[in-house]
Amino acid sequence: MKRRSFLKSAAALAAAPALTPLARAAAQSVPAIYPATPHRFSENFIWGTATASYQVEGAVHEDGRGPSIWDTFSHTPGKTYQGQTGDIADDFYHRYHEDIASMKQLGVGGFRFSIAWPRVFPEGTGTPNPRGLDFYKRLVDALREANIEPFCTLFHWDLPQALQDKYGGWTSRATAQAFADYVHYTVGQLSDRISHWMTINEFGSYIDLGYGIGVFAPGLKLPRKEWMQTRHNAVYAHGLAVQAARAAATRPIQVGLAEDMTGVMPAIEDDAHIRAAEIGLREENAWHVTAIFEGRYTDHYLQSLGPDAPVFTPEEMKVISTPIDFLGINIYTTQEAVPSDAAPGYRMVPRPASYPHMASDWIFFNPQAVYWTPKLTSTLWNVKTIYITENGCSSDDVLHTDAQHPEGFVLDSGRVMYLRNYLTQLQRGVGEGVPVHGYFLWSLLDNYEWASGYSKRFGITYVDFETQKRTPKLSYDFYRQIIRTNSLA
Ligand code: FCB
Repeated sequence: MKRRSFLKSAAALAAAPALTPLARAAAQSVPAIYPATPHRFSENFIWGTATASYQVEGAVHEDGRGPSIWDTFSHTPGKTYQGQTGDIADDFYHRYHEDIASMKQLGVGGFRFSIAWPRVFPEGTGTPNPRGLDFYKRLVDALREANIEPFCTLFHWDLPQALQDKYGGWTSRATAQAFADYVHYTVGQLSDRISHWMTINEFGSYIDLGYGIGVFAPGLKLPRKEWMQTRHNAVYAHGLAVQAARAAATRPIQVGLAEDMTGVMPAIEDDAHIRAAEIGLREENAWHVTAIFEGRYTDHYLQSLGPDAPVFTPEEMKVISTPIDFLGINIYTTQEAVPSDAAPGYRMVPRPASYPHMASDWIFFNPQAVYWTPKLTSTLWNVKTIYITENGCSSDDVLHTDAQHPEGFVLDSGRVMYLRNYLTQLQRGVGEGVPVHGYFLWSLLDNYEWASGYSKRFGITYVDFETQKRTPKLSYDFYRQIIRTNSLA
């Protein structure tokens, strides 16, 4: 549309007799260069932003919401940066209209958010709380009004505390069943307005960090055998939830998940290294994405765990591998692989201490993450629809003011550099036909970064957590331009 009107005005210019031949040639060359850029995305590519309930909503005591394990954890002394909590966060619960208006300005076509389970079932199970659900109805209606497609995650880590107390959270299959019940109810209520659903966000984070290493809620350091069983329960819960969502939907829906896959790329781009990366990607993601697509844990995964391997039945593996409609990949970094003579045939290259990273020390700068992981994923398992459900970085952003900008501005050039390089690699992939259909930037707003509290800013919008004032950063303008032109200049 934009392109067509551009060409039309160029034609009008060319016809104007007052122009010198040089000026006419210059005017004609402008549209010729711009549409010819090879860095375009497809017309229906979805550009979006992403958030999660506990990180942005606040309003933790409002409208009947029950406590989650993150309320408990963040209020436990010594667990989070300076004891910070998500009690208020971005106050998105009350300010979502303002944030949707900002997204409209930005031009996004999609918004990824999550539903707080304890708003819908304050006790995790039992009687639903209609006031909690109403918030999401209002939110989704406002998104639709703004022409923004909602992409909804059903679990982004805020497990009802009641289920932790009663069942030990994800250590028990009872929580998996409770999750399926919550999903059945919620999708039944909201599938009239939401088509895209993700069951669970990042098994690899909330299970390993929450139940194995203890730095995320609920802060447990389980013995390895129990930890591995907890992993199994979580992927089993995903499978049950896919089935529950499909059974409850009142019209056709798309169901997937969002996983922070361990990114693996060939250290050198030749056949042997690419093969090593392929084997590596399968093994490094063995207990979730591989199990979901293949219906089995790899031999190498089970053997490496020895007596700590999870106990499971063939029936459970069938549930886990219930077909999904799309895979959401959260990706911030990747690691290089080289071939190895030892089974299973690859070795991950350890990163030297000088390997560059962004403000969060786990976000190693490697733009090829968004090229190789989706590409190898699509070929390994013949995945037809992939979304990048999270990508972005933290940065030590500072709000400046000057005479021209008394309202303040943030020049987050490091984030712009990160995004430009990652998106260039994403475009390389989609240009080759890798089936990535959309990209959700993490995050719309600076927000509560889990155990790091408010110390790590990930937003393309700066948030003053005292006043809740929002200030779009340079990266916001950068992203808006990409969305507007649907390309990288
Ligand atoms: C991902 C989480 C998301 C956010 C980003 C920075 O692992 O899914 O909630 O914390 O990291």
